[in-house]
Amino acid sequence: MVCLGNICRSPLAEGIMRQKAWDAGIEIDVDSRGTSGFHIGESPDHRTQKNALSHGIDLSQLKAAQFRAEDFDSFDIIFVMDKDNFRNVADLARNANDMSKIRLILTETDEKGYPSEVPDPYFGGEAGFEVVYQLLDRSCRDFLNKRRK
Ligand code: 4NP
Repeated sequence: MVCLGNICRSPLAEGIMRQKAWDAGIEIDVDSRGTSGFHIGESPDHRTQKNALSHGIDLSQLKAAQFRAEDFDSFDIIFVMDKDNFRNVADLARNANDMSKIRLILTETDEKGYPSEVPDPYFGGEAGFEVVYQLLDRSCRDFLNKRRK
């Protein structure tokens, strides 16, 4: 799960996907990164943690890290939150196989008119964090449902 800072969207995406996979008995390894190094070593934003906790997800143990080309070797899918993240991760791709792993997470939801990007909530109010939660919750569910079939 990749966003810009690795303190708002991608840690939440990590927490949601891990929780849902656990609930469904699906074994997957989930981690998150930021394309920037602005917040390396920091815990998730307090607003993200508060929102996650309101949905029963504890993000307090996570620490921000920056995406590196070697991360392509550790994961089958690199889910990005928006198109800027896509470009930044694609810039680090070393070959076509790396490129093929990058996906906008919201495209896991096939519904017509569903947004393709998770909006950056960092400079907005708390309501934006719930919007992010709802979008990610749906797309993580849809992703896992497809894997089950
Ligand atoms: P994130 O949000 O990419 O969802 O973690 C942001 C966090 C920090 C900044 C921007 C977005 N920043 O500019 O520091």
